[in-house]
Amino acid sequence: MPHFDKLNLRQYPPVNRGQAFNSADSLLIEAAGARPTPVDATLVVNDEFGAVCCALQAATLWTDSYLASLSVQNNLRRNKLTSVKVLWSTDTLSENLTRNQCELVVMRVPKQLSYFEYQLSQLSSVLTAGTTVLVAGMDKHLSPATASLIENYIGPTERHRGKHKARLFSACRDERSPELFSGSGEYHSDTLNQPLMSLANVFAREKMDIGSLFLLESLNTLAPTERVIDLACGNGIIGLTAASLGLCKNLLMCDESAMAIASARANTERSATQCNVSYHHGDGLLEYAGEPANLILCNPPFHLNHRVDEGVGRRLLAQCAAHLVKGGSLCLVANRHLNYLPVLKREFSMVEKIAQNNKFVVWQARR
Ligand SMILES: C[S@@+](CC[C@H](N)C(=O)[O-])C[C@H]1O[C@@H](n2cnc3c(N)ncnc32)[C@H](O)[C@@H]1O
Repeated sequence: MPHFDKLNLRQYPPVNRGQAFNSADSLLIEAAGARPTPVDATLVVNDEFGAVCCALQAATLWTDSYLASLSVQNNLRRNKLTSVKVLWSTDTLSENLTRNQCELVVMRVPKQLSYFEYQLSQLSSVLTAGTTVLVAGMDKHLSPATASLIENYIGPTERHRGKHKARLFSACRDERSPELFSGSGEYHSDTLNQPLMSLANVFAREKMDIGSLFLLESLNTLAPTERVIDLACGNGIIGLTAASLGLCKNLLMCDESAMAIASARANTERSATQCNVSYHHGDGLLEYAGEPANLILCNPPFHLNHRVDEGVGRRLLAQCAAHLVKGGSLCLVANRHLNYLPVLKREFSMVEKIAQNNKFVVWQARR
């Protein structure tokens, strides 16, 4: 098994600080390495940058994140290791995984508790009794419910000694069949006059984000147009509202989360929109090769996993000008403390503040 010291690991998206692994990864790798499991029988869940997949040379990764999948495949390639088969969070495990592909499960605790519970419940439906599930997370990211959730869905769970601010849990799948947990949430959109659902790992599952609401209030100042992109769409609230106000004939929704794309799709299908809607699961618009838009709407992310990171939003905004027609514009909402103005001024010829309150600013930047 290649050790960290022998691996060349980088983070994707590239950031200036931090390493591409942490002590939760080390605990998982150490514990998995101590077990004689064939590599193609190990299922890795939620690997963040690829440390676990590279060190264990696992055959299958289960993740919600396009960014994580890119990071993992890049690091495997960088270290001349075989690529991993990616199963998305929206793939039902029982339909996509044979029993001998998950004789050992090696899992990082994800950020959202509902998503963690969803994943454990899916695992419980495919693992045979006796299968070991290793779970680790950094202490500051663990909930008091971590061990009891594992115990509830998998079976008897051991909480190991903490090391370097991280904790390992090991569980043995028992014979019980716990009830499946969907983790989905829903809220009612008054403008759309419909409920909007969100799968377990989607942003603002049960309540509309106040930043999104502020952006929606500015939409009626925008002129109707041909093509609109909802960049970082989450459950699709912004794009669907733009469509319902008659702002576009064609709408593209993109997000890096597989569950966000699936939720946006489900909400579109439930809606009365006449708009032609398509979807892009990717790192913003980086690999998008479709027609340029007249308008891009965005409530940008400012977290990368557990970390607050302004750079995540800046990267997305920097991609926008290349995907707009001449005269097209980007309209975004930002928390007042987030400094997006320099990147907007660098990429666009005209930048205007079209609304503000005590928390948020809505910027319009024209190409
Ligand atoms: C602040 S939320 C906004 C969601 C939705 N538009 C709303 O207003 O409720 C940001 C979204 O950005 C997505 N995201 C983060 N990084 C991304 C990237 N590189 N490419 C595409 N989407 C990304 C997240 O998955 C999340 O859904």
